[in-house]
Amino acid sequence: MNLDLTGTHILSISQFEREHIDLIFNVADRMEPYAQRKRVTRVLEGAILGNMFFEPSTRTRVSFGCAFNLLGGEVRETTGVQNSALAKGESLYDTARVLSGYSDIIAMRHPVAGSVAEFASASRVPVINGGDGANEHPSQALLDLYTIKKELAAKHRAVDGLRIAMIGDLKYGRTVHSLSRLLTLFSDVKVILISPKELQLPEELVEDMRLAGHDVIISDQLEDGIGHVDIAYSTRIQEERFASQEEADLYRGKFRLNQAIYTKYCEPNTVIMHPLPRDSRSTANELDNDLNLNPNLAIFRQADNGIVVRMALFALILDVVDHIDLYSRPVGWYVNRRSN
Ligand code: NCD
Repeated sequence: MNLDLTGTHILSISQFEREHIDLIFNVADRMEPYAQRKRVTRVLEGAILGNMFFEPSTRTRVSFGCAFNLLGGEVRETTGVQNSALAKGESLYDTARVLSGYSDIIAMRHPVAGSVAEFASASRVPVINGGDGANEHPSQALLDLYTIKKELAAKHRAVDGLRIAMIGDLKYGRTVHSLSRLLTLFSDVKVILISPKELQLPEELVEDMRLAGHDVIISDQLEDGIGHVDIAYSTRIQEERFASQEEADLYRGKFRLNQAIYTKYCEPNTVIMHPLPRDSRSTANELDNDLNLNPNLAIFRQADNGIVVRMALFALILDVVDHIDLYSRPVGWYVNRRSN
């Protein structure tokens, strides 16, 4: 097996073996002093990230950018189809040929499934899929699993043997698609898929998890499903993927987790995750603000982990892992050490 990620596109979780995940997570651990601003490194000085987000994004776009900056590189971005030449009818092929001449690596999000792979096939530099329609979001799954691993390690547990509930829009949610694929690399996982019947996880992903030997249960009952899990992974109804707003409205607010439900139904210390954004409108509110002080709410630790995982991907793809510390020094400015 070739473990070397130098120069590779990151398009789907399917391209990884378990050894890749160990490698990425080991490098991510080594990024911690830089992410926490204990040290700075200039290892990617002169390199340019093309951060191309043709769909709304806050944390994925900004954390890709920050991760690149933290390695000493520069970031150029474009946001929204309307602000790019795609709105003038330019093909993904032409856009890729041009933008890959301006950058050393590209992170891209696009509303159409398969578009990032199409773009990558014309790109002269490596491309990371930051989300292609309802298809995949591999870097999110990596940071999700990195978070699961860390949260479980604090309880002296490993990912093998994990019990996880995935809740909400499992049909259009690309984060759960990629995470399901990633879980097939582990063993003895119990997965409870809680969604409205119409928004169930695509059959092929369920099958792949069963083929991996996992115990997969499909349910439309939140309370029963979250009773015996280590991780409750909530998701937003992906309303932008529905044919009409009316259709999306049918499902919004169906599975709400709040402190009262958590206390009543979850085992103590069940970890709560969400890829974010959580939809905080009163009609949705899948993860209530009254959980904010619950120490098991891991959503912001999860978002923080996006930095080290994305730094690790850049370092591996651009082949600088062994040089990071060489080009580093302590920070010279005041750092308010953030604790998680
Ligand atoms: C997710 C996405 O864009 O798929 N957000 C993210 O990248 N953290 C989830 C969502 O939008 O609901």
